[in-house]
Amino acid sequence: MRPPTSSLPIVLAMSGASAQPLAQRALALLLQANHRVEVVTSRGALGVWKAELGVQVPADPEAQEAFWRARTGCEGGSLRCHRWNDQAAPIASGSHRTAGMVILPASMGTVGRIASGVALDLIERAADVHLKEGWPLVIAPRELPWNLVHLRNLTTLAEAGARIAPPVPAWYHQPQSLEDMVDFLVIRVFDSLGLQLGSLRRWRGPVSLQP
Ligand SMILES: Cc1cc2nc3c(=O)[nH]c(=O)nc-3n(C[C@H](O)[C@H](O)[C@H](O)COP(=O)(O)O)c2cc1C
Repeated sequence: MRPPTSSLPIVLAMSGASAQPLAQRALALLLQANHRVEVVTSRGALGVWKAELGVQVPADPEAQEAFWRARTGCEGGSLRCHRWNDQAAPIASGSHRTAGMVILPASMGTVGRIASGVALDLIERAADVHLKEGWPLVIAPRELPWNLVHLRNLTTLAEAGARIAPPVPAWYHQPQSLEDMVDFLVIRVFDSLGLQLGSLRRWRGPVSLQP
């Protein structure tokens, strides 16, 4: 098993957009690589897991840790879950240093509230903390199409220092399965945190573009 690239924890936040399997895969790869991970699953995300995947993710932190351990099949790393509205959690404070935070997937509601500085739940508060402290914040928005409000909110967050990394598929890595595509999306999102989460066939060019 590879040693962790940082002893500081990585915050993985799942908000209520489609594409929850990307978050689960990210968690599995982080734990496999022996990272310290702090997870927040928003109330909206709990609803999407139920609606799209028929899975009831426990809101209780201890039950959720057991759930993710079983679901990912990973015993490595360290995992700490937080209740979606626990504004007293360590990651709600700038005195709790992290290696960075990734919101995957990011709903437009969460994006809008962070862009407005409105911290109603723990994801929004932790994102606010990362921005104010100047720590890495990667936002992987999932909506299609984006309206002008979404675009403006994402621009505001980019201007405030967040990295916007939408999980957009590509084919240059020659995916053979949905799992290959999921890995591509997750690994590219975490590239934005400066973390190589797994092996990927990367673009090596040049190739002849002649037909
Ligand atoms: C099945 C389902 C899928 C959804 N997918 C998306 C989505 O892809 N993007 C989005 O912005 N909102 C989506 N929503 C709406 C959000 O879940 C909703 O706005 C929620 O209040 C967001 O809460 P949160 O931002 O606190 O997680 C979806 C809702 C449901 C029930």
